Amino acid sequence: MVDLHSHILPGVDDGARSLEESVEIAIAAARDGTKVMAATPHVRGDFPTAVATMERLVLELKEALREKGVELRILGGAEIAISSLKALDADELRRFGLGGNPHYLLVEFPYSGWPLSLEAEIWNLGERGITPVLAHPERNPEVQFDPSMVAPFVAAGALVQLTAASLDGRLGRRNKRTAHRLVAAGCAHLIASDAHWPGLRRAGLSSAAAAVGDPRLANWLVHEVPTAIIENSPIPIHPPARSGSLLSRWFSC
Ligand SMILES: [Fe+2]
Repeated sequence: MVDLHSHILPGVDDGARSLEESVEIAIAAARDGTKVMAATPHVRGDFPTAVATMERLVLELKEALREKGVELRILGGAEIAISSLKALDADELRRFGLGGNPHYLLVEFPYSGWPLSLEAEIWNLGERGITPVLAHPERNPEVQFDPSMVAPFVAAGALVQLTAASLDGRLGRRNKRTAHRLVAAGCAHLIASDAHWPGLRRAGLSSAAAAVGDPRLANWLVHEVPTAIIENSPIPIHPPARSGSLLSRWFSC
C-alpha cells in the first residue's frame, strides 16, 4: 500500500514530536503493509513549515529508518492550506509536490466553513500543470450534510483523498457515512492515514481497505492511484461499480 498523507516528520506540526515517535509511526505502518509513505507536514498559518525543513527532515527520517532496518520508503510532500497556496512561489510548489511529484499537491480541505476560493484555486493550479489532491473533505460538516458538494471540485480537476479512520469508523458515524457515500459515487480517489502520532491514531490503511467492501476498488484506492501519482503515470480508470446501489445513483463524479 502507498500512503500519501502523514504527519510523520518530527517537531514541525501537530504530528510526531520526536524522531523516536516518527520511527514508531513508520514501524506501525510497515507492519500494516504500507510500503511507501509521503511525509506531508502542515503548511498553514499555525504550522508554516518551510520546504527546506521538510526536505532535511525527510533525509533524517530516512537515515533513522535505514539504521533501524524499518522497510518503509519515505517521500516528501506537504498538506497545504488553501490560504497558504498564494504565498508559495513556483520553486516551493514544485518541491512540496506530493510524493516527490511536482505535478500534484495535497491541499487541506477545511474542517469547518466552506472553501469559497477552492474551485478557482483548482483551476489556477491546473493552469500550472498541478493536480490538487483534496485531503479528507468527508470531515467537513457541509460535505457531511450533502456529499454531492464535492462533485464540482472533482469536475474542476481535483482528486479526493479520504482518511482511513473515516472509512473504518474510528472517526465516528458521520465521517464514516460520508466517506462511504463519496466512494460509492466515484468521488474518492485514494485513501491515506493522515497519521499524526503512534498510539492514538493508527498509521495503517488495511482496516480502511477492508471497510471499502470491494477488494478491487480498495486496491485502486490504496495502491493503484497513489502509485500512479508517485510514478507520474496516468491515473488508472476507476473500477466498475460492483452493484448499482441507491447511494451511487444519488450523485456521481
Ligand atoms: Fe493531515
